Amino acid sequence: MRYLNLTKVIARLILLQRIEFSNSFLKKIRKVLGRYIFTNFVTKYLVSADEINSKYHLQMNKEYELLSDFIDFNNKKILSIGPGMCGLELIINSKSKNSFFTIIEKNYVSKKVVYGWDSKNREGYNDLELLRTFLEDNGMEGNFEIYDFDEKKLPIKKFDCIISLYSMDYHYNFEIYLDYIRKVSLPETKIFFDTIRPDYFKKIFENVDIILSDEKKIHSSKRILCNKFIQ
Ligand SMILES: C[S@@+](CC[C@H](N)C(=O)[O-])C[C@H]1O[C@@H](n2cnc3c(N)ncnc32)[C@H](O)[C@@H]1O
Repeated sequence: MRYLNLTKVIARLILLQRIEFSNSFLKKIRKVLGRYIFTNFVTKYLVSADEINSKYHLQMNKEYELLSDFIDFNNKKILSIGPGMCGLELIINSKSKNSFFTIIEKNYVSKKVVYGWDSKNREGYNDLELLRTFLEDNGMEGNFEIYDFDEKKLPIKKFDCIISLYSMDYHYNFEIYLDYIRKVSLPETKIFFDTIRPDYFKKIFENVDIILSDEKKIHSSKRILCNKFIQ
């Protein structure tokens, strides 16, 4: 069964963004050959687009089910920071009406994807032209815009919701986006992201709720829902 309209090239990017989708064969190869060969060769040739498609579709539906317990996505302006191939955004788009997506991502794939805390924020695993085509091939039209983080020209407008799964404060410091998020959020803007230090955010936001505890990821993290900056 085909879930998303997805090519092998897109499947490779999804695998780099969500290394948990590796099967045991890929995990073994990565261990033996190392990250450089895995990133630049193995993922190009040995990835099954069908396998990634079904895993990605299932997982993004789970992400949607969780978030939709806390927000009604109809008529919302959504800012997605580091959404990868936007599987979650595609599901939100198919299940809601009149949502608009502003996407901020990186426009390159690192030579050696490391998956740890990246203090200089040099890791990127995306291709924004491919992302645009992927969104259009899967039914999004006229209701999204894509920004390259490194071009430093991010849009200034207010969002109803900000989502950053396994990106901001999971791979790189929230501080990178602190001033920007302050500018583009209202007190009621719902901000969802994954972090290993939820208590730190109690000094930044009036409301911080843990909505998911993930012990299985590379570093065990919590998904939090925050709103209202403390002045
Ligand atoms: C682990 S992946 C997670 C992708 C997606 N959110 C998901 O849950 O499948 C992290 C993503 O963050 C992106 N990224 C890294 N630095 C970023 C930045 N400063 N701004 C936006 N995205 C960034 C990477 O390119 C990558 O696609």
